[in-house]
Amino acid sequence: MPLPRLRELEERARPRLPEEVHRYFAQGAGAGLSAAEAEGSWSGHRLVPRVLRDVTHVDLSTSLLGTDVSTPVGIAPTTLQRAAHPDGEVATARAAAAEGALLVLSSNAGSTFEDVAATGVDWWLQLYVTSDRTRTTDVVQRAVDAGARAVVLTADTPVVARKEQGERSVWEVTDPSWVRRNFTEDGAEKARDLGPQDVAWLAGRFGVPVVVKGVLHPADARRAVDAGARAVWVSNHGGRQLDRAVAVAEVLAEIAAEVGGAGSEGEGAEVYADGGIRSGLDALVARGLGADAVFLGRPVLWGLAADGYDGVRHVLGAVTEDLREGLTLAGAAGWTAVTGDLLRTTTTTAAGPAPPAGTTL
Ligand SMILES: Cc1cc2nc3c(=O)[nH]c(=O)nc-3n(C[C@H](O)[C@H](O)[C@H](O)COP(=O)(O)O)c2cc1C
Repeated sequence: MPLPRLRELEERARPRLPEEVHRYFAQGAGAGLSAAEAEGSWSGHRLVPRVLRDVTHVDLSTSLLGTDVSTPVGIAPTTLQRAAHPDGEVATARAAAAEGALLVLSSNAGSTFEDVAATGVDWWLQLYVTSDRTRTTDVVQRAVDAGARAVVLTADTPVVARKEQGERSVWEVTDPSWVRRNFTEDGAEKARDLGPQDVAWLAGRFGVPVVVKGVLHPADARRAVDAGARAVWVSNHGGRQLDRAVAVAEVLAEIAAEVGGAGSEGEGAEVYADGGIRSGLDALVARGLGADAVFLGRPVLWGLAADGYDGVRHVLGAVTEDLREGLTLAGAAGWTAVTGDLLRTTTTTAAGPAPPAGTTL
């Protein structure tokens, strides 16, 4: 059976979801400009394939802050997975484990840390720091005790951005237990005064590496790393926070040059990217721009809604195999073998032509 395109997967997922849930997953902030722009942004770069290179074996494995993975395509943190499928985060975790992919679990998840950990997946905790830091301490400690191997601090959400179609309606059709399952108390405000001191505190307190997610400016990447972050995750939150925030493909290379990442000199920090990654070639471009790993948000939700565990496996497997083909044709024997000269960026820009509809896998 030919692989269904990821876009078709969304079409399959759609009738299985209440309209409010589909809209919640799909929408961006404001007028949705950044959300709409993300997918096309990766196709503004062109690849310079190398030849006369042995690509008999193409190795996709890598190590992310000491976590060994079989694929550099990971799962971004997303809420409300139990609204997509009754098994929610646990199905996602089982699928990630089966594919050897890294799972980043939302701190708002509707499944317990222990149930996720029991799948055997390698997972990291995504964290929103609350204005009352003591609640944060408790959640992170429990996650680390349950086996989270890193903490991903989301820094782009001092407030949840307004969405044009609103968000309230989704809570009317979902069960309250599908979110914040790992909190014992009611929700607290997100911290608006998040700063390098929080990064330093997290890095020093829990004995696991810290990643800062939602970075779009090289100077902020530098501040995060100087404060103790071991990686920066370049992201505009899938276009769900500041609408008109720049596309990740536009700033990734600058950030990688600032703090490390693939193809840069020295040890440096790791650099990750997400937003509109829908094919292995998008991932390959991200690699050329300096990403050590890429993450998928909405495609995982569509896969989960369409087919549960199998659907998520399909998404991870399809993007990974597409990436393998891309690397093979580009003459790179593996993800870590990609060199900085893969991209021709001088004559093309991220504002290049949008891909024809449906070219994602
Ligand atoms: C429905 C939904 C919920 C999300 N929830 C979170 C979250 O809890 N924490 C977080 O850091 N990012 C969250 N994100 C952002 C994703 O981690 C990721 O940055 C983004 O979805 C990547 O873009 P993509 O959906 O185009 O792949 C969410 C995204 C979506 C679509």
